[in-house]
Amino acid sequence: MTDTVTPEQSSNDHLTTLRAMREKAIQGGGTKRIEAQHAKGKMTARERLSILLDEGSFQELGALATHQLTDFGMDDKRFPGDGVITGFGKINGRRVAVYAQDFTVLGGSFSQVQAQKINKIQDLALESGIPIVGLNDSGGARVQEGVRSLAAYGEVFQRNVASSGVIPQISLIMGPCAGGAVYSPALTDFTVMVDTTSNMFLTGPEIVASVTGEQVTAEELGGAAVHAGRSGVAQFEARSEVEALELTKLLLSYLPSNTSEDAPTLVTDDSPDRMDDNLNELVPDDDRKAYDMRDVLDAVFDADSILEVHQSFAPNAIVAFARLDGRPVGIVANQPMVMSGVLDIDSSDKISRFIRICDVYSIPIITFVDCPGYLPGVEQEYNGVIRHGAKIIYAYCQSTVPKISVVTRKAIGGSYVALSSKQMGADVAFAWPTAQIAVMGPEGAARLLHGKAIKASEDPAATEAEFIAEYRERFFNPYRAADLGQIDEVIEPRETRPRLVRALEVLQTKVSTAVPKKHGLFPV
Ligand code: HXC
Repeated sequence: MTDTVTPEQSSNDHLTTLRAMREKAIQGGGTKRIEAQHAKGKMTARERLSILLDEGSFQELGALATHQLTDFGMDDKRFPGDGVITGFGKINGRRVAVYAQDFTVLGGSFSQVQAQKINKIQDLALESGIPIVGLNDSGGARVQEGVRSLAAYGEVFQRNVASSGVIPQISLIMGPCAGGAVYSPALTDFTVMVDTTSNMFLTGPEIVASVTGEQVTAEELGGAAVHAGRSGVAQFEARSEVEALELTKLLLSYLPSNTSEDAPTLVTDDSPDRMDDNLNELVPDDDRKAYDMRDVLDAVFDADSILEVHQSFAPNAIVAFARLDGRPVGIVANQPMVMSGVLDIDSSDKISRFIRICDVYSIPIITFVDCPGYLPGVEQEYNGVIRHGAKIIYAYCQSTVPKISVVTRKAIGGSYVALSSKQMGADVAFAWPTAQIAVMGPEGAARLLHGKAIKASEDPAATEAEFIAEYRERFFNPYRAADLGQIDEVIEPRETRPRLVRALEVLQTKVSTAVPKKHGLFPV
């Protein structure tokens, strides 16, 4: 007698097989490697996704995909999923695509199958107009796959660039990210690194030591503090993995799902008419004294709505997302507390990148100006402060979003033109009565215009002081610029919030047209 299988039994067997395979996929590299991951203070890829995504929203794709290699004993090293978990889900009710490299499987190393899975998710995100979040934790190209894994990186880069300016792309670095792997995050909009457990470098400490003789640890070479503070490669530095994941959710709340949509507006109970009298006293009478621009921003924008980007990089400038009467806005501001808020190479890069991000996602830009100009110096000139400084000008001129400027104090020379002027496209330009809008500082102007007279006078110091006082009196205020229409209105500092809310209300329907062209030549 032959065995007969009822349809019910057959179906149960199929389900048992599927469930066993799924269970194996969930186990990743197995218990030992999961324990090793935890021992390093890191979560597994699935644990991370469970924090990032709304509960029960994750839909996995490609959980059972495996490589088909046999070289280097790879036939014994097949893990369903092949070291990356991909799929889609929701963050605060909004759709996102995600991928998370699983370090417990072959060190998360990047393979052809990984690329195919990530590419599928990238295509799905781009076609559906939804953000993509990548959690990176990988030893780089899977060495056993040779040039296959190099080609695989190229496929990811191609899609990173195709998605740039269409959907938000956020990269979290939650472990090693070395070699070619660093370029995908660098091509995305935002990179978030985790303190002490993540690093990014082209070549690791051993290669650095052998090539240049420099001795550094992985943390010193490419840790979160290095990239958030010095190189500017990371826009955010989180103290823990959970903080990095929560920060990603917060960041997405300021962004639209794609560039044809508007970012969500939230209902706020912070009154649009709220005024803060402290602002009237904030700017010191002595213009050599600093004040904290963050106090201005905190008083003006919706309560607790400011999210600083690139916080520790080029701290002489502040760039941040915030809300004004519930609407997302981008803030660009000088920070008088650091180097008097001067513009230099790094702050130019920081500001211009942020302007372009705001512009592409249709987020209005509000600029607070207190800046003595571009930083003079041999090092700055040699390293191209002209080229980098030009980026700010290019980015403002190119941007079509509503732009409002507020000059709180110094807007001198290049800083006035670059940051706040109507000619750079400010739709509405406000100034506080403490504003000093002038072509150059009084000391320089006195020497330039009256140098000979000062030298020839009986008391050069007194004559110079007289010229400086006269220049200050005549030019170091907002009223000349207001006379000429270069400032639309001089306002009391405390009125700033309601003024900005009203101006933004008007500008929200702003339309701007440009001559069609392939693309401009941004001064990189
Ligand atoms: C294959 C890899 C791997 C890789 C790690 N593993 N990286 N397998 N290819 N690139 C494997 C290890 O063999 C090990 O397997 C497991 O993952 C865990 O790795 P460990 O070394 O035990 O972990 P740890 O001590 O935490 O060190 C992590 C690490 C180290 C610092 C990332 O693994 C490392 O240095 N890996 C190589 C990094 C690198 O040079 N990448 C560049 C590749 S070339 P077992 O089975 O033993 O547990 C490249 C160029 C691309 O990326 C250019 C594109 C344009």
